[in-house]
Amino acid sequence: MGIRPDSGLIGGKQVTNLEIVLLVLLIVSLGLAGWALKYGLKERRRRKGRPLFDGSALPEVNPQDIDEIFTENETGTALTAEAVLLGEQGSQASTTLDEVWVLAALAKKSRTIFEFGTCTGRTTYLLARNAPDDARVGTITLTPETMDSYHADDSDPDNARWTQIAKDESMFTSFHYSGTPVEGKVEQIFGDSKEFDETKWAGTCDLTFIDGSHAYSYVKSDTEKAIRMTKKGGLVFWHDYSPPCVGVWKYLNELGQSLPIKHIKGTRLAVLRVS
Ligand SMILES: C[S@@+](CC[C@H](N)C(=O)[O-])C[C@H]1O[C@@H](n2cnc3c(N)ncnc32)[C@H](O)[C@@H]1O
Repeated sequence: MGIRPDSGLIGGKQVTNLEIVLLVLLIVSLGLAGWALKYGLKERRRRKGRPLFDGSALPEVNPQDIDEIFTENETGTALTAEAVLLGEQGSQASTTLDEVWVLAALAKKSRTIFEFGTCTGRTTYLLARNAPDDARVGTITLTPETMDSYHADDSDPDNARWTQIAKDESMFTSFHYSGTPVEGKVEQIFGDSKEFDETKWAGTCDLTFIDGSHAYSYVKSDTEKAIRMTKKGGLVFWHDYSPPCVGVWKYLNELGQSLPIKHIKGTRLAVLRVS
């Protein structure tokens, strides 16, 4: 059989030049699509690990550097780090899904937990929801009735602004966990954290989360208490480690000179393993 000048043979079958061109185009397109998918996934992974801001003064780590439950396998996040979560839409609290996931996953292995700053109780609920049945979760907040006990230092940077923010976030007297099956795990404390006596919690906490007033003097006071409350090997977390939250940013950058505090990449969480 002869081959026409405007055709060729593929796999013994006679095809026109147009069909050959279409086939080549299809192969090239598939190759490009595969490359784009591979590049996209790689870029997504790279972005996820990127800090939210430049110039963290603390060493940066990934969750898997904090605890083995976050060790990734070939599919990504392993089931050891699965946790019950709740979306952040419409919530007054500003913890992102990634931030609350780190805390919720660690709550699964924490019997005693304490949170400075309840707000809507979204994180409190998720800590209690993920913690073992016999866990207890302490959490302290101001309310409109107790707000008068708030006393920042005159020397706190941007004092008036942070006092107003603390006031705005102290409007809740009913919380996400209220009326849920996990309410019994929660010990709600109302009052000012500088006046809070942490003695009964000393050395008992597996996990403490500092997210109360962001004024420098409060971050310092809450941190000193949280470190006393956390047992050896336990974890202290801070939220809002970022330049706009000047009290948290300044205090942790100073404390990081003497303690091995780390910044978790892609979040505003800072963390210390107590030794
Ligand atoms: C940023 S919100 C906490 C958000 C919450 N941790 C979450 O993840 O959903 C701040 C909370 O800290 C509380 N707070 C602010 N100043 C406080 C103080 N001096 N003593 C106790 N709680 C305080 C506010 O009442 C509010 O509940």
